[in-house]
Amino acid sequence: MASIDRARLYEQLTQEERRFVDTHPRSRELFERAKKSLLAGVPMNWMVRWAGPFPVFVKGGQGAHFTDVDGHDYIDLCLGDTGAMTGHAPAAAVEAIAAQIRHGVTFMLPSEDAVWVGEELTRRFGLPYWQVALTATDANRFSLRLAREITQRSKILVFNYCYHGTVDETFATLNEGIVGSRHGNLGPQVNPSVTTKVIEFNDIPALEAALAPGDVAAVLAEPVMTNIGIIHPDPGYHDALREITRRTGTILIIDETHTICTGPGGYTQAYHLQPDMFVIGKPIASGIPAAVYGMSEEVAERVRAHTPIEDSDTSGIGGTLSGNALSLAAMHVTLERVLTPEAFNRMIPLAERFELGVEEVIEEYELPWIVKRLGCRAEYWFRPTPPRNGGEAAAAIDFDLDRYMHLFALNRGILMTPFHNMALISPSTSEADIDQHTRVFREAVRSLVA
Ligand SMILES: Cc1ncc(COP(=O)(O)O)c(C=O)c1O
Repeated sequence: MASIDRARLYEQLTQEERRFVDTHPRSRELFERAKKSLLAGVPMNWMVRWAGPFPVFVKGGQGAHFTDVDGHDYIDLCLGDTGAMTGHAPAAAVEAIAAQIRHGVTFMLPSEDAVWVGEELTRRFGLPYWQVALTATDANRFSLRLAREITQRSKILVFNYCYHGTVDETFATLNEGIVGSRHGNLGPQVNPSVTTKVIEFNDIPALEAALAPGDVAAVLAEPVMTNIGIIHPDPGYHDALREITRRTGTILIIDETHTICTGPGGYTQAYHLQPDMFVIGKPIASGIPAAVYGMSEEVAERVRAHTPIEDSDTSGIGGTLSGNALSLAAMHVTLERVLTPEAFNRMIPLAERFELGVEEVIEEYELPWIVKRLGCRAEYWFRPTPPRNGGEAAAAIDFDLDRYMHLFALNRGILMTPFHNMALISPSTSEADIDQHTRVFREAVRSLVA
């Protein structure tokens, strides 16, 4: 097995940083100016975490590409971390969104699109009743509230190193088996161990033990973990998860915000899952803020019994802009004309091509790395075997190597998903885009291996 020469890595990283600075003068200038009015020079704090000393300032995007203010063109394999999985500015969506804006954005009244969307969500994901939020974070928060209300239980359960948005109760990890605040969790209102049980993914005995006391309202789960890297469930794991949650009266919430990459009906449709509640956000409105949460007939019945009309505006669920006409029009067109089965038939083989290309380079250089894929999302790991849970995955993170691979790609016109080495394919990504990534990946590897 080949190994990475660390001294060379740091030397190369410095070189790539220099190259980035030299070739992005306008982004640098904007960043210096932005620091005077925006905290840390960015409109949202995560934007400081891109590889490179400052972020690329974007000019515009079309399909699978975008350009920056310095005139560089990029193949976008990040796609707004799934928010732009539709590709940028898909023509059908642009037209419908612009038309809706001309007719009003928000009314606090339902529009006809809402009915079509509800029916389509049921057709795709199977659950009969739906509500709309602005973000997947909110859809998760509202689902957890409803689950706590109808079960009259206080705790929730999540998997170690999960991510479900900035939902307070989910910012918990295991540290030597003890639940505590996730590293970096700012200003939690209570220690998350009060609200949350955390277990490792794929650990059935731990799930049994955690749910046995009957104090957990809901398990909130991605069907395949994606946020600490792609971690597939063991064979039979979902059957066990469903059986144990059902037996213990625990609501099972499946969050498909990222795993929609599996296919048009997400992992739920592809693998016949039967969640009690279901969440999806990010790409379902072509980037216009929108998310939905669905519920089974039984959950809906119990929710109805707990939500008298006179208290509906003080329930802690929903928001003034949730369910606005623009979000609904955007969801309608996205589901009908953009994220179609035909689109997935194009996207998934391209992700397979990405996987194959990267795998060939790994083999050629005999690196102890692997590639994992879920539908149209693929990712390479700096470890020789797939991790089975979040704890194992977190231990494999190599911050500097990660940064180098990202920056090397960025300097050659490819944007990878930050925080890991993930690529997402849009309906407008081409074979040439994928092959360009493979070439750049090979070049990056060659620069590091002795
Ligand atoms: C699985 C999952 N759920 C929910 C969210 C939250 O989405 P948003 O930040 O759009 O609220 C994310 C964001 O990465 C996610 O990966």
